Amino acid sequence: MKKTAVVIRGMKGAKNIVALTSYSYWMTRIVDPVDIDLILVGDSLASMVLGYKDTLPVTMDEMIHHTKSVSRANPNSLLVADMPFMSYQSSQEKAVENAGRFIKEAGAEAVKLEGGKQIKDTVYRIVQAGIPVLGHIGLTPQSIHQIGGYRVQGRDTERAKSLIEDALLLEKAGAFAIVLECVPSALAKEITKKLHIPTIGIGAGPYCDGQILVIHDILGLKIGHIPKFVKQYANLTEQITKAIESYKKDVTAGKFPGKEHSYE
Ligand code: KIV
Repeated sequence: MKKTAVVIRGMKGAKNIVALTSYSYWMTRIVDPVDIDLILVGDSLASMVLGYKDTLPVTMDEMIHHTKSVSRANPNSLLVADMPFMSYQSSQEKAVENAGRFIKEAGAEAVKLEGGKQIKDTVYRIVQAGIPVLGHIGLTPQSIHQIGGYRVQGRDTERAKSLIEDALLLEKAGAFAIVLECVPSALAKEITKKLHIPTIGIGAGPYCDGQILVIHDILGLKIGHIPKFVKQYANLTEQITKAIESYKKDVTAGKFPGKEHSYE
């Protein structure tokens, strides 16, 4: 069954939502048959695929390029595109225009924006334009310089209160679900209870309505730091390295190509 934003919204309290990032046609061809509810072309594209040190430099054109690639796989999962840094912060008009580009040019079916009260009117405007919006609060990597580091958000009462307010305002603005990143489990539980729309956690504990992770993290397709909240289900870096080493060994030793890989 094709997942839409309406379907995902309706999963609140009924079934855990399973979400994952994907950045390319071929990865999506592998992900989608597993019946994942939501695929996010995350701005984590910046560091996972394009080699930037954080998510800030990735552009609209780069995000559009990769979203197009994912949408060519025609996934049954809801296809959400992440709005990159400075594609929605400077004006509501620019935000609606850029959100529209993801739908018109790239085949996305919803967009994700980071932030709470400061972007609620922008979220409202995008939703009014007929584009479903996935919210994202807690640790918002596009504000990393303001936050001061990749750390858990909402540990103190004041910040926790502010995040609850953010979630309620995004719901009121029309978001169909909200990503909660790196918040204590108890706070995620409280927010999840207060909302009528689903929460999708990443580093937000077990009480959210669903979970999202970065595909490179779960596949071990990454060199460097793996956050505590990630469960690694494979170590593809190790497997790929072994495969390339074997290929190199065979070619060096003249063992490849053999008869079975050669034409008469
Ligand atoms: O860009 C990203 O990967 C995200 C995460 C929340 C999954 O925004």
